[in-house]
Amino acid sequence: MESLDNIAEISEIDKSDMLKIVEQFPKQCRDAVSLAETLNLDSSFFASISSIAVLGMGGSGIGGDLLKTVLTENATVPVQVVKGYKLPRFIGKDTLVFAVSYSGNTEETISAFSEAVSRGSRIIAVTSDGLLEKLAQESGANVIKIPSGFQPRAALGYLFFPILITASKLDIVPSLEGDINETLTILEKLSENLSSKRKISENTAKQLAVNLFGKIPVVYGIEGATMPAALRWKCQFNENSKVQAFWNFFPELNHNEIVGWELLKETTKKFSLVILRDRDEHPQITKRVKATRELIKDHLDSIYEVWCEGDSKLARILSILYKGDFVSIYLALLNGVDPTPVKRITLLKKRLAEK
Ligand code: F6R
Repeated sequence: MESLDNIAEISEIDKSDMLKIVEQFPKQCRDAVSLAETLNLDSSFFASISSIAVLGMGGSGIGGDLLKTVLTENATVPVQVVKGYKLPRFIGKDTLVFAVSYSGNTEETISAFSEAVSRGSRIIAVTSDGLLEKLAQESGANVIKIPSGFQPRAALGYLFFPILITASKLDIVPSLEGDINETLTILEKLSENLSSKRKISENTAKQLAVNLFGKIPVVYGIEGATMPAALRWKCQFNENSKVQAFWNFFPELNHNEIVGWELLKETTKKFSLVILRDRDEHPQITKRVKATRELIKDHLDSIYEVWCEGDSKLARILSILYKGDFVSIYLALLNGVDPTPVKRITLLKKRLAEK
């Protein structure tokens, strides 16, 4: 499309209204908070929990990455995200297991869930439908049923807030009420500032999408801070904008990937780097970002920085993640592709289901 300010053209390309769903994300998060609060678990369910595991793939698994990042500094038990068929050995009856699958039919999650059932873990399934709901009911696991009709990646509010709120009921996790309120307020403000109605001249998400048009985005996050957002940005570029994209995180990338920006300059000149910054980053990370930029800048088309907003870790991580959702959709529109369908994923799941 020619101009991201042409609303009529936007609705022609965005046939399933992904942009509208993203604009309404703060409301989805508010609904999800209320939904999570309806789950009444007695204190024996939470007694002597020694670890938390989140099972989930893709758009459902990212909620686990967010939970791990948000809780890491304060929770006194480890949080493990399982993105595959099998559970690590330590997961047992004292593990609080969240089995998260939007469709309820993702085979890796179902397999790991079944293992958790046989180990007697304290399980909560988060799903809109499918086999997971059925198996959870049959095995007596708790179910948080979330609304259907979304693409999984567009239902992140429903997939994430219930696990965050349930985990915060454990006495090993400090109260998150204030953080949640701050986050919702910031998301609402961003929704306004980055919405389709906001003209390109005053809309930073539209501006970044224009800058990334025709380039291969590389997104760098920071370990323990913006890392899950960097993964989400990359996945949203893949699934919404239908472009290849890559991600990595500081400081690890300083020990390997930085060397890769050396040869094949003609190719890497088509890459555009987006660094996801956090005002609370370690001072050495600030130095690393500066030095890395200087060392690699001539090997890329361009480098951009996007910053978190807010005080709490929750607000910071969700604000920067949310900005990426907008950028990926505006990039899809510039590419003239409908952000919603993910034909390859559907096709692959069909092939795997064939006997
Ligand atoms: C599609 C999407 C995918 C799915 C993944 C797992 O919008 O985001 O990454 O999330 O294929 O499927 P579910 O979430 O149904 O378990």
